[in-house]
Amino acid sequence: MARRMLVAGNWKMHGTAADLDAIGEIAMGAGDGCDVALCLPATLIERAARRHADFAIGGQDVHQADKGAHTGCISAAMLLDAGATLTIVGHSERRQAQGESDADVRGKAEAALAAGLDVILCVGESDAIREAGQAVSTVSAQLDASIPGSIGDPTDFSIAYEPIWAIGTGKIPSIDDIHEMHAALRGRLIAAYGEAGGAVRILYGGSVKASNAAEIFSVDDVDGALVGGASLKAADFLPIVEAARKS
Ligand code: 13P
Repeated sequence: MARRMLVAGNWKMHGTAADLDAIGEIAMGAGDGCDVALCLPATLIERAARRHADFAIGGQDVHQADKGAHTGCISAAMLLDAGATLTIVGHSERRQAQGESDADVRGKAEAALAAGLDVILCVGESDAIREAGQAVSTVSAQLDASIPGSIGDPTDFSIAYEPIWAIGTGKIPSIDDIHEMHAALRGRLIAAYGEAGGAVRILYGGSVKASNAAEIFSVDDVDGALVGGASLKAADFLPIVEAARKS
Protein backbone atom coordinates (compact mmCIF):
# COMPACT_ATOMS: atom_id res chain seq x y z
CA MET A 1 0.00 0.00 0.00
CA ALA A 2 1.42 3.39 -0.98
CA ARG A 3 1.82 5.61 2.04
CA ARG A 4 2.80 9.28 1.90
CA MET A 5 6.01 9.99 3.79
CA LEU A 6 5.83 12.08 6.97
CA VAL A 7 8.82 13.89 8.46
CA ALA A 8 8.04 15.39 11.86
CA GLY A 9 10.36 17.41 14.06
CA ASN A 10 10.17 17.08 17.83
CA TRP A 11 11.61 20.24 19.37
CA LYS A 12 11.36 18.84 22.91
CA MET A 13 12.17 21.60 25.47
CA HIS A 14 13.84 23.90 22.96
CA GLY A 15 12.62 27.15 21.48
CA THR A 16 11.51 30.66 22.38
CA ALA A 17 10.30 33.63 20.32
CA ALA A 18 13.87 33.97 19.03
CA ASP A 19 13.33 30.71 17.11
CA LEU A 20 10.20 31.76 15.22
CA ASP A 21 12.32 32.67 12.20
CA ALA A 22 13.83 29.17 12.14
CA ILE A 23 10.30 27.73 12.25
CA GLY A 24 9.38 30.03 9.36
CA GLU A 25 12.36 28.86 7.32
CA ILE A 26 11.29 25.24 7.81
CA ALA A 27 7.62 25.98 7.07
CA MET A 28 8.50 27.85 3.86
CA GLY A 29 11.04 25.24 2.75
CA ALA A 30 8.91 22.16 3.43
CA GLY A 31 7.45 22.10 -0.09
CA ASP A 32 5.18 19.41 -1.52
CA GLY A 33 5.63 15.73 -2.05
CA CYS A 34 5.67 14.59 1.56
CA ASP A 35 4.04 15.63 4.82
CA VAL A 36 6.12 17.79 7.17
CA ALA A 37 5.29 18.89 10.72
CA LEU A 38 6.95 20.48 13.73
CA CYS A 39 5.93 19.46 17.26
CA LEU A 40 6.80 22.51 19.33
CA PRO A 41 6.86 23.47 22.99
CA ALA A 42 3.33 24.50 24.01
CA THR A 43 4.39 28.12 24.44
CA LEU A 44 5.23 28.47 20.72
CA ILE A 45 2.33 26.60 19.14
CA GLU A 46 -0.12 29.44 18.80
CA ARG A 47 2.40 31.97 17.48
CA ALA A 48 3.84 29.51 14.97
CA ALA A 49 0.42 28.29 13.84
CA ARG A 50 -0.82 31.86 13.38
CA ARG A 51 2.18 32.74 11.19
CA HIS A 52 2.06 29.54 9.13
CA ALA A 53 -1.58 28.54 8.73
CA ASP A 54 -0.80 26.01 5.97
CA PHE A 55 1.97 24.24 7.87
CA ALA A 56 1.35 21.45 10.39
CA ILE A 57 2.23 22.48 13.94
CA GLY A 58 1.83 19.94 16.74
CA GLY A 59 2.13 19.40 20.45
CA GLN A 60 4.46 16.93 22.17
CA ASP A 61 1.94 15.50 24.63
CA VAL A 62 -1.74 15.74 25.49
CA HIS A 63 -3.82 14.84 28.54
CA GLN A 64 -6.43 12.12 28.21
CA ALA A 65 -9.13 14.12 30.02
CA ASP A 66 -11.21 16.89 28.41
CA LYS A 67 -10.61 19.29 31.31
CA GLY A 68 -10.21 19.30 35.08
CA ALA A 69 -7.78 19.51 37.97
CA HIS A 70 -4.61 18.51 36.08
CA THR A 71 -2.05 21.18 36.87
CA GLY A 72 0.41 21.78 34.06
CA CYS A 73 -1.39 19.58 31.54
CA ILE A 74 -2.92 20.42 28.17
CA SER A 75 -6.08 18.91 26.65
CA ALA A 76 -6.67 18.03 23.02
CA ALA A 77 -9.21 20.86 22.76
CA MET A 78 -6.57 23.30 24.02
CA LEU A 79 -4.04 22.14 21.43
CA LEU A 80 -6.62 22.53 18.68
CA ASP A 81 -7.60 25.93 20.03
CA ALA A 82 -3.94 27.02 19.81
CA GLY A 83 -3.80 25.93 16.16
CA ALA A 84 -2.15 22.52 16.49
CA THR A 85 -3.25 19.79 14.09
CA LEU A 86 -1.34 16.88 15.61
CA THR A 87 0.38 15.66 18.74
CA ILE A 88 3.03 13.19 19.79
CA VAL A 89 2.02 10.75 22.55
CA GLY A 90 4.06 8.18 24.48
CA HIS A 91 7.54 9.55 23.81
CA SER A 92 10.08 7.52 25.79
CA GLU A 93 11.22 10.67 27.60
CA ARG A 94 7.69 10.97 29.01
CA ARG A 95 7.23 7.25 29.58
CA GLN A 96 10.47 7.29 31.61
CA ALA A 97 10.52 10.69 33.34
CA GLN A 98 6.77 11.06 33.89
CA GLY A 99 6.09 7.36 34.43
CA GLU A 100 3.48 7.16 31.67
CA SER A 101 2.11 3.63 31.22
CA ASP A 102 0.91 1.98 28.02
CA ALA A 103 -2.65 2.52 29.26
CA ASP A 104 -1.97 6.26 29.76
CA VAL A 105 -0.56 6.48 26.24
CA ARG A 106 -3.57 4.68 24.79
CA GLY A 107 -5.91 7.10 26.62
CA LYS A 108 -3.99 10.10 25.29
CA ALA A 109 -4.07 8.75 21.71
CA GLU A 110 -7.79 8.04 21.93
CA ALA A 111 -8.56 11.50 23.34
CA ALA A 112 -6.48 13.24 20.68
CA LEU A 113 -7.96 11.31 17.75
CA ALA A 114 -11.50 11.79 19.08
CA ALA A 115 -10.90 15.56 19.25
CA GLY A 116 -9.61 15.66 15.65
CA LEU A 117 -5.85 15.79 16.17
CA ASP A 118 -3.53 13.53 14.19
CA VAL A 119 -1.39 11.37 16.47
CA ILE A 120 2.21 10.12 16.40
CA LEU A 121 2.46 7.35 19.01
CA CYS A 122 5.99 6.39 20.09
CA VAL A 123 7.34 2.98 21.05
CA GLY A 124 10.89 1.73 21.50
CA GLU A 125 13.21 -0.48 23.51
CA SER A 126 16.08 0.19 25.93
CA ASP A 127 19.62 -0.95 25.15
CA ALA A 128 19.33 -3.73 27.77
CA ILE A 129 16.26 -5.13 26.00
CA ARG A 130 17.99 -4.91 22.62
CA GLU A 131 21.07 -6.66 23.99
CA ALA A 132 18.92 -9.39 25.53
CA GLY A 133 17.50 -10.12 22.07
CA GLN A 134 14.01 -9.08 23.15
CA ALA A 135 13.56 -5.87 21.16
CA VAL A 136 10.94 -7.09 18.69
CA SER A 137 8.82 -8.95 21.27
CA THR A 138 9.01 -6.09 23.78
CA VAL A 139 8.18 -3.29 21.33
CA SER A 140 5.40 -5.39 19.74
CA ALA A 141 3.83 -5.86 23.17
CA GLN A 142 4.24 -2.16 23.92
CA LEU A 143 2.48 -1.30 20.66
CA ASP A 144 -0.38 -3.74 21.32
CA ALA A 145 -0.94 -2.21 24.77
CA SER A 146 -0.62 1.45 23.68
CA ILE A 147 -2.63 1.76 20.46
CA PRO A 148 -6.27 2.87 20.45
CA GLY A 149 -9.05 0.33 19.99
CA SER A 150 -10.11 2.08 16.80
CA ILE A 151 -8.46 4.82 14.75
CA GLY A 152 -10.92 6.19 12.17
CA ASP A 153 -8.92 7.44 9.17
CA PRO A 154 -5.63 5.48 9.36
CA THR A 155 -3.68 8.31 7.72
CA ASP A 156 -4.35 10.44 10.84
CA PHE A 157 -2.45 7.97 13.00
CA SER A 158 1.28 7.17 12.89
CA ILE A 159 3.62 5.05 14.95
CA ALA A 160 7.18 6.21 15.66
CA TYR A 161 9.66 3.43 16.41
CA GLU A 162 12.33 5.14 18.51
CA PRO A 163 14.92 2.88 20.14
CA ILE A 164 15.72 4.68 23.42
CA TRP A 165 19.45 4.02 23.02
CA ALA A 166 19.43 5.74 19.60
CA ILE A 167 17.88 9.01 20.81
CA GLY A 168 20.42 11.83 20.84
CA THR A 169 23.37 9.41 20.80
CA GLY A 170 24.35 9.34 17.13
CA LYS A 171 23.80 5.56 17.16
CA ILE A 172 21.18 3.91 14.97
CA PRO A 173 20.13 0.26 14.59
CA SER A 174 21.36 -1.65 11.55
CA ILE A 175 19.20 -1.37 8.46
CA ASP A 176 18.25 -5.04 8.95
CA ASP A 177 17.17 -4.35 12.53
CA ILE A 178 15.05 -1.37 11.45
CA HIS A 179 13.47 -3.54 8.75
CA GLU A 180 12.76 -6.38 11.15
CA MET A 181 11.11 -4.05 13.68
CA HIS A 182 9.02 -2.11 11.19
CA ALA A 183 7.81 -5.35 9.55
CA ALA A 184 6.82 -6.72 12.97
CA LEU A 185 4.97 -3.50 13.86
CA ARG A 186 3.18 -3.55 10.49
CA GLY A 187 2.00 -7.07 11.32
CA ARG A 188 0.66 -5.91 14.70
CA LEU A 189 -1.17 -2.96 13.09
CA ILE A 190 -2.81 -5.24 10.53
CA ALA A 191 -3.75 -7.66 13.31
CA ALA A 192 -5.36 -4.77 15.20
CA TYR A 193 -7.03 -2.82 12.40
CA GLY A 194 -7.19 -5.14 9.37
CA GLU A 195 -6.64 -3.46 6.03
CA ALA A 196 -6.50 0.00 7.67
CA GLY A 197 -3.39 -1.17 9.53
CA GLY A 198 -1.62 -1.18 6.18
CA ALA A 199 -2.26 2.56 5.80
CA VAL A 200 -0.88 3.63 9.21
CA ARG A 201 2.54 5.25 8.81
CA ILE A 202 5.47 3.83 10.77
CA LEU A 203 8.19 6.45 11.30
CA TYR A 204 11.71 5.76 12.49
CA GLY A 205 13.20 8.06 15.14
CA GLY A 206 16.59 8.25 16.85
CA SER A 207 19.64 10.13 15.52
CA VAL A 208 18.14 10.72 12.07
CA LYS A 209 20.33 13.15 10.12
CA ALA A 210 20.79 14.29 6.54
CA SER A 211 23.65 11.80 6.23
CA ASN A 212 21.62 8.68 7.15
CA ALA A 213 18.06 9.64 6.15
CA ALA A 214 18.08 8.33 2.58
CA GLU A 215 19.27 4.89 3.66
CA ILE A 216 16.72 4.70 6.48
CA PHE A 217 13.92 5.81 4.12
CA SER A 218 14.85 3.09 1.63
CA VAL A 219 13.73 0.41 4.13
CA ASP A 220 10.32 -1.21 3.50
CA ASP A 221 7.69 -0.03 5.97
CA VAL A 222 9.69 3.07 6.95
CA ASP A 223 7.23 5.82 6.12
CA GLY A 224 9.15 8.82 7.42
CA ALA A 225 10.97 10.02 10.52
CA LEU A 226 10.50 11.67 13.89
CA VAL A 227 13.53 13.92 14.24
CA GLY A 228 14.84 15.54 17.43
CA GLY A 229 18.09 17.51 17.37
CA ALA A 230 18.31 17.77 13.59
CA SER A 231 14.86 19.41 13.40
CA LEU A 232 15.92 22.60 15.17
CA LYS A 233 17.57 24.24 12.17
CA ALA A 234 16.29 24.41 8.60
CA ALA A 235 19.79 23.63 7.28
CA ASP A 236 19.75 20.28 9.13
CA PHE A 237 16.06 19.44 8.78
CA LEU A 238 15.20 20.34 5.19
CA PRO A 239 17.73 17.88 3.68
CA ILE A 240 15.95 15.11 5.64
CA VAL A 241 12.64 16.30 4.18
CA GLU A 242 14.25 16.26 0.74
CA ALA A 243 15.45 12.67 1.26
CA ALA A 244 11.89 11.66 2.17
CA ARG A 245 10.51 13.38 -0.90
CA LYS A 246 12.95 11.50 -3.14
CA SER A 247 12.45 8.08 -1.54
P1 13P B 1 17.20 12.76 18.09
O1 13P B 1 16.84 12.90 16.62
O2 13P B 1 17.79 13.98 18.67
O3 13P B 1 17.99 11.51 18.33
O4 13P B 1 15.80 12.58 18.88
C1 13P B 1 14.90 11.64 18.44
C2 13P B 1 13.62 11.82 19.16
O5 13P B 1 13.52 11.56 20.36
C3 13P B 1 12.49 12.38 18.41
O6 13P B 1 11.30 12.25 19.12
